[in-house]
Amino acid sequence: MSDTVIRVENLSKKYVLSHQQKGGSSSYNSLRDTITEGAKSLSQKLLKPSDHKTFYPNREEFWALRDVSFEIKQGDTAGFIGRNGAGKSTLLKILSRIVEPTQGKISIKGRVASLLEVGTGFHPELTGRENIFLNGAILGMSRAEIKRKFDEIAAFSEVEKFLDTPVKRYSSGMYVRLAFGVAAHLDPDILIVDEVLAVGDAQFQKKCLGKMEDIGKQGRTILFVSHNLAVVQSLCNRGIFLKQGSVFADVSASEAVSIYLQTLEQSASKNLLERTDRRGKGQVRLAQVQVSTGGENPSTTLAIGRPASFIFHVTSIIPGMSCTFTLYDQHGQPVASFNSATHSQEDLNVPELGMKLICEIGELLLVPGRYRMNVAIFSNGELQDHVEAAAILEVEQGQLRGRPIASGTEYGSVCIPHRWSLVG
Ligand SMILES: Nc1ncnc2c1ncn2[C@@H]1O[C@H](COP(=O)(O)OP(=O)(O)OP(=O)(O)O)[C@@H](O)[C@H]1O
Ligand SMILES: [Mg+2]
Repeated sequence: MSDTVIRVENLSKKYVLSHQQKGGSSSYNSLRDTITEGAKSLSQKLLKPSDHKTFYPNREEFWALRDVSFEIKQGDTAGFIGRNGAGKSTLLKILSRIVEPTQGKISIKGRVASLLEVGTGFHPELTGRENIFLNGAILGMSRAEIKRKFDEIAAFSEVEKFLDTPVKRYSSGMYVRLAFGVAAHLDPDILIVDEVLAVGDAQFQKKCLGKMEDIGKQGRTILFVSHNLAVVQSLCNRGIFLKQGSVFADVSASEAVSIYLQTLEQSASKNLLERTDRRGKGQVRLAQVQVSTGGENPSTTLAIGRPASFIFHVTSIIPGMSCTFTLYDQHGQPVASFNSATHSQEDLNVPELGMKLICEIGELLLVPGRYRMNVAIFSNGELQDHVEAAAILEVEQGQLRGRPIASGTEYGSVCIPHRWSLVG
């Protein structure tokens, strides 16, 4: 296989979902639970669309990956992108040999170090120090080799003071620091990193990205999953876009990102209720998002400095309903998020019993451009519906408190009202 270090052939992974009894779910769900719930309710809908609430099969098959094939060459930095539930983590877990594939095969040349979701790779009862040695041993390193790397790992992770504390007492940030330090410094041939960078603070994330760049420059191979498309574009030479468990595009990172963003835009143009790419319990669903400037002559084209209003229509009345939405810029970076469950004195009423949730913005601070909106509907904290790219917004140029803001003249996505003075 010459310089091919990873070959994945016709890989598929099936999960069997066993259904819980009605009423057994708690209001606090992990992301994984929420995703699994989404898959369940989606397939229930497919099985019996008109009455999925009363249909409870005990067992159901779900293909998280379907017929995935690709090759990774020595020195490639491959970014895996795709929506929630697309199969990215499942793929990395199979490549890290944590999960067995159902069909297909993988061949890997070299030592693999993985940094997957928080909670994998470390033994909770062991101290940071012991875990460093354990991980090194798993990677096949001698004690002397690990000792040589030890100080570097401790310094990079910035957890020196806690090296003799069991890692179960670590905060999630400390845990990720140490896990990244270990994975990145034990000289793996292949480094697999799943999204965990989102846990650390901005400074640490920068440090991790710098380290990954160094590792890439040394000719090592990196597989990286991230929702941060700007990072994928800057770090990766290849982009693999997974869609519903299959490879949709295997191209350069920037092409993969633009294909991904295009598919999001295409989804946004579909009728919301016809879309099946959603997750959540589904007792109430987002039916429509209306965007307008509000006021006496409402327009659907927003402009910087003007009022904006977002109306979220839902399919039924449900107690304790709330809505969150996040706006993303055209590079896929989150710009701002809004949550109706966090109350302010300015809220007109507590949105509980109604079919519409309305969010009004007095003065839109977004610079001219195109933005995408992800929306989630909750009832008493339980995810009912989550739709990515539920709407696309166009923000036109305009004036912010009298200061003209033209298209293409601003850096960043947000304009902050401000005042200059010349004193002397
Ligand atoms: N242990 C499991 N049992 C059942 N289903 C699972 C399991 N792990 C993952 N799945 C399902 O497989 C699908 C793919 O999940 P995966 O975690 O790989 O997605 P992802 O692309 O990493 O998503 P995200 O962007 O949200 O992290 C999801 O629908 C998920 O619900
Ligand atoms: Mg994942």
